[in-house]
Amino acid sequence: MRRPLVAGNWKMYGSKASVRQLLDGVLAGAGAIPGEIAVCAPYVYLGMVEDRLRGSAVAWGAQDVCDRTGEGAFTGEVSGQMLRDFGCRYVIVGHSERRHIYGESDELVAKKFAAAVASGLVPILCVGELLEEREAGATEKVVDRQLDAVFALLENPADIGRGVIAYEPVWAIGTGRTATPDQAQEVHAFIRGRLRRKDPATANGLRILYGGSVKAGNAAELFAMADIDGGLIGGASLKADEFLSISRAAPGGQ
Ligand code: PGA
Repeated sequence: MRRPLVAGNWKMYGSKASVRQLLDGVLAGAGAIPGEIAVCAPYVYLGMVEDRLRGSAVAWGAQDVCDRTGEGAFTGEVSGQMLRDFGCRYVIVGHSERRHIYGESDELVAKKFAAAVASGLVPILCVGELLEEREAGATEKVVDRQLDAVFALLENPADIGRGVIAYEPVWAIGTGRTATPDQAQEVHAFIRGRLRRKDPATANGLRILYGGSVKAGNAAELFAMADIDGGLIGGASLKADEFLSISRAAPGGQ
């Protein structure tokens, strides 16, 4: 049985005051949620997040990480070890905003995945197609290519199981246009099938989250699908009540 995970991606939103309020709101309801919940905060707030969430039922993480481990002259970068130093459990890698706004390649994302694992973090690897790719029938090809880049770097294919995968169709992110449960399940099943050919045991245990305009009103039907093991939540994770409602909709979280 895969334990569901609902992770919030706060993106570049917030202030010290709003982060404090959001953390208090999430903490107030988190104890009652049997699934796992996590928040991925902007780097500058991680110290506050750690202070507030340490010892609670809520895990935390960052939204990106340097592709290199150790220390070095890499101005502006933040290493996996630094994130561990702030108690992070998770880090998002390959979010579509990093891939499409900042031009991160499949290879760079794969290096970030490997660096996160080497630092003891759990990477949340985002994959997903653009609208024109879906319309051209290329969804599986795109997801395959994004996964292949990670497998190419891993010495042991089972190491993919040290992360979490998030299927996020780019056309559904921040648009209010969610994939239907069937559309999402189809891609999730494809991803799990793809992993099964590499390593069956890992494929069965690996959590595959759905992301893209998940809200309290549509979470339950998405999370009820066989291969959807929770969600990566953007906009709706900035409201504590909405985030908690989504978290309660995860399987076993009723
Ligand atoms: P959204 O974002 O929930 O606001 O669509 C999801 C994400 O970008 O991870």
